Amino acid sequence: MQYDESKFRAFFADAPADIDMALLDMARIPRHISCIMDGNGRWATARGLARTEGHKAGIVSLREIITAAVRLGVDVLSAYAFSTENWNRPQHEVNVLMHLFAKTFIDELPLLKRENVRVVFLGDISALPKRTRDVFEYGLAECKEHAGMVLALAVNYGGRAEIARAAQQLAARVVSGELSVEDIDEQAISKNLYTAGLPDPELVIRTSGEMRVSNYLLWQIAYAEFYITDTYWPDFDRWGLVRAILAFQGRDRRFGGLSSASA
Ligand code: IPE
Ligand code: IPE
Ligand code: MG
Repeated sequence: MQYDESKFRAFFADAPADIDMALLDMARIPRHISCIMDGNGRWATARGLARTEGHKAGIVSLREIITAAVRLGVDVLSAYAFSTENWNRPQHEVNVLMHLFAKTFIDELPLLKRENVRVVFLGDISALPKRTRDVFEYGLAECKEHAGMVLALAVNYGGRAEIARAAQQLAARVVSGELSVEDIDEQAISKNLYTAGLPDPELVIRTSGEMRVSNYLLWQIAYAEFYITDTYWPDFDRWGLVRAILAFQGRDRRFGGLSSASA
């Protein structure tokens, strides 16, 4: 995506000592960056606060990363906000999260408008509380004409559930005679995922040091590069994102072939 050079320079002025912005190759910014926003609870607990305070602080980080991604010219930013397994948390925490999702979407509409960001949801939002769903529908309609970066928010998302849903959708079309069994190829499956039409993530960032995928975008991350930082999500900022991209740009992506250097 086109990026605005002067806005980029202003947003990324005063880099910390360990970052040399001149090393960032603007021609090789990942098209799709995905964040597993983890560590909100531990961030809060470490400060003697309720876990839910960590979720509130995490929203400030998300806002910064959205702007940073737009400044960098990223096409798609996705973020894991609530998994199909997160319903197992205490009811109070789930309630606070559902309320925060709705409130944040409304609060951030001016940002999404200003930056021309289109929102899509990944996951089964029909299972969310009605109020949250209504707000999501309102917000989606408000930014559906935006033609800039896509912000894909994974809410009530599970990778396995997503693949099972795609299998059901395809099977139903075979039963109805619309599709033959041979038509079920990788492309057909991709087209039936929540991410249909979006490029696969090239870079997945997980905060808080956990070395696992937690049922996130299982199909789409086949060849994604992983970047894991010990930083808790509420402390993750534009510089953390730049560090991740610099690490990404230093990787040798072989896709099962041979290194470009040895070819
Ligand atoms: C991530 O932070 C946010 C959600 C899963 C909603 P956590 O709430 O998982 O924070 P930790 O991992 O317990 O510190
Ligand atoms: C993954 O974090 C889900 C989100 C960030 C929304 P979790 O905190 O739920 O993952 P686990 O339980 O540590 O694997
Ligand atoms: Mg966690």
